[in-house]
Amino acid sequence: MADAAERGQWHSRLGFVLAAAGSAVGLGNIWKFPYITGENGGGFFVLIYLGCVALVGLPIMTAEILLGRAAQRSPVGAFRKLSASGSPWVSAGFLGVAAAFVILSYYSIVAGWALHYTWLSISGALSGKDSEAVGAVFGELYQSPGLNLFWHALFMGLTMVVVWSGVQRGIERWARVLMPAMFIALLAMLVYCVQLPGFGPALDFVFGAHSEKLTAASVLEALGHSFFTLSLGMGAMLTYGSYFDREGDAVKASLAIGLLDTAVALLACMVLFPITFSHGMEAAAGPGLVFKGIPMALGELPFGRLLSTIFFALLVFAALTSAISLLEVTTAYLIDERGWPRRRATLVTGTLVALLGVPSALSGSSALFGSGLQERLGRNWFDFFDYLASNWMLPLGGMLTALFVGYRLDAALRQEEFLRGTTLGSLYRAWLGLLRYLVPVGMALVFLNALGVL
Ligand code: TRP
Repeated sequence: MADAAERGQWHSRLGFVLAAAGSAVGLGNIWKFPYITGENGGGFFVLIYLGCVALVGLPIMTAEILLGRAAQRSPVGAFRKLSASGSPWVSAGFLGVAAAFVILSYYSIVAGWALHYTWLSISGALSGKDSEAVGAVFGELYQSPGLNLFWHALFMGLTMVVVWSGVQRGIERWARVLMPAMFIALLAMLVYCVQLPGFGPALDFVFGAHSEKLTAASVLEALGHSFFTLSLGMGAMLTYGSYFDREGDAVKASLAIGLLDTAVALLACMVLFPITFSHGMEAAAGPGLVFKGIPMALGELPFGRLLSTIFFALLVFAALTSAISLLEVTTAYLIDERGWPRRRATLVTGTLVALLGVPSALSGSSALFGSGLQERLGRNWFDFFDYLASNWMLPLGGMLTALFVGYRLDAALRQEEFLRGTTLGSLYRAWLGLLRYLVPVGMALVFLNALGVL
């Protein structure tokens, strides 16, 4: 078992909130949310997503932080310590570690795209291009095995350097600076986008009542995304919670993290869709949305090159503060359960994730191996990993967490942990009710529906 020094702790409570918000705010908010909103027709999809965040995501976030804080362990150890050795609940912890591997392996590919775009912005390769040429740049990148592999490897290297440096000196220090910077950059972009002709249509698209494209699969997607964007369902928040001050306010912290995360996601939509609509681009442009939209908007501006460099660099940082939380879960598992030193744990798991990402890096280039397999999966490897992890593994992990805290965890311990340090103790009953009834029943319905049983 690792001692406290090897495990680490946050320097301050604010540091915890920023690091956790750094984990939550990432590509999920700026890259994924706008594009799946586009694909699912806007409006109602956003509403369902907000409902999932408030009623399912936030209670589970609090549950995870409390579990981590009570056990002082990462997921596998936490479930073991709080149930019993050999109990089936421990597999919920292993599911989390597996999900971390799967998610980071393709997350790093998209982060690599952001690195590539940062480089293209610096070198001026994006300047003065019209919409079509900007679209072609993304197409080229998407299909190139070499570029995808190169940037993927570089991004994994960066992530490993930070996790290697540990909780306080690595993770917390970076999040403190980079999170606020990203927020300001988005606000600045918003100021510009408000005066675009597409702003009105964008507002209507995101907040108006549109249900044309909504299907049962959209509901599962909204649910899955609420887990993805809040970093829930695989023990990342649990692990961060285990470094949290025992007297800190976990309830208020959850609310703050959820609010920040949602604000950034909506902000990203309000920046991207005005651009999309003003340039006659499809709202359902798919994974290329942000990578085409931003250069289109900024290409025409006087300081476009500088601005797009800043934007994509910040996107890389937002991705980095999320990626480190994913790698931290696999690393903490080896530290806590196997007694490995942090550096070895980081190096080994980081390398494994990088290798697991190779098929995703090659997904866009159909010429390479795996095309038969990709056909059988019904989507390419990259999309399959994303689908598997966000729509199934995370909601399942989240549901197990809710059931564990709602029914299995010692009642006195549960109440004591919730009440300690919080000024929002009156929410205890409501929180427990959501975890026990609404979350499992609601999620079971969504699962059954997606499986075609209902
Ligand atoms: N929440 C991050 C994002 O929106 C991604 C992420 C980081 C994540 N850690 C996670 C997703 C843990 C699921 C689980 O980009």
